[in-house]
Amino acid sequence: MSSRGWGGPGQAAAYAATCARLCAGAHPAVLAAVRPLTGRRVLDVGAGDGRLARALRGAGAHVVAVDPDPDMAGFSAGLPDLPFEDGAFDVVVACFVLNHVDDPRAAAAELARVTAPGGRVVATIWPSGTTAQSRMWQRVLDAEGVVPGPGVRLPEHLDFPRTVDGLGGLLRGAGLETEAREVGWTHDGPLAELWEGAAAGIGGIGATVAGQPVEVRERLRAAYDVEVGALAEDDRLRFRTEAVLAVGTRPGRMPG
Ligand SMILES: C[S@@+](CC[C@H](N)C(=O)[O-])C[C@H]1O[C@@H](n2cnc3c(N)ncnc32)[C@H](O)[C@@H]1O
Repeated sequence: MSSRGWGGPGQAAAYAATCARLCAGAHPAVLAAVRPLTGRRVLDVGAGDGRLARALRGAGAHVVAVDPDPDMAGFSAGLPDLPFEDGAFDVVVACFVLNHVDDPRAAAAELARVTAPGGRVVATIWPSGTTAQSRMWQRVLDAEGVVPGPGVRLPEHLDFPRTVDGLGGLLRGAGLETEAREVGWTHDGPLAELWEGAAAGIGGIGATVAGQPVEVRERLRAAYDVEVGALAEDDRLRFRTEAVLAVGTRPGRMPG
């Protein structure tokens, strides 16, 4: 298993305390896309701190959660090799995971493989460069002349466009009948939360921020404190953001 733009094991507590809240904004749209869930076998791939798996269970599903980081929720397994038989699940979710894998096409094929005929794969990613938070981070990096390290981007032949068409095409390429769209919500969290996630090395921005020498990190923090003002309201971070959500159906009929 492999992950990119994701710092690897050791980030579970920092993720739960910081960026998990941002990702959770997309979870209601994920749940809405796959209801009704009563009695369904659901696999949550890249389960993070487990809050989506808990919501899926709350909606009546039988949920198996996996994550390559043994400190995250579920048991230790990851893309592109899931330890399940073909067609083992009615619904497979991968929320903000395909943007962290080394081979997105192999990962999508594996999500499709473990999905039953007539079952669905639901995936979300962040669209590249267009969200309020990514534009804020770009201004922070620009203020200090910091450019992301080469390790954060996939080689061109493995990468896919981080757009509605890009994620839709990825699932279609795995043989799924797919609809993709943008979903939006208002994020609401503590002012320093996104900085703390990045400083802990979480996600693509974390790889860039945490990789800087201490004095550059301090300057980036000062730039964050300035730039975050544009996204703040009443001493909270409060802004509209969007993710790309795709639902891919495996051809065939689901039994029952
Ligand atoms: C941004 S977090 C999203 C967590 C959760 N799905 C959510 O929506 O809150 C990305 C998660 O993907 C996991 N991950 C990274 N590489 C992975 C891989 N190759 N296969 C499965 N999960 C992976 C990370 O350990 C992390 O828990």
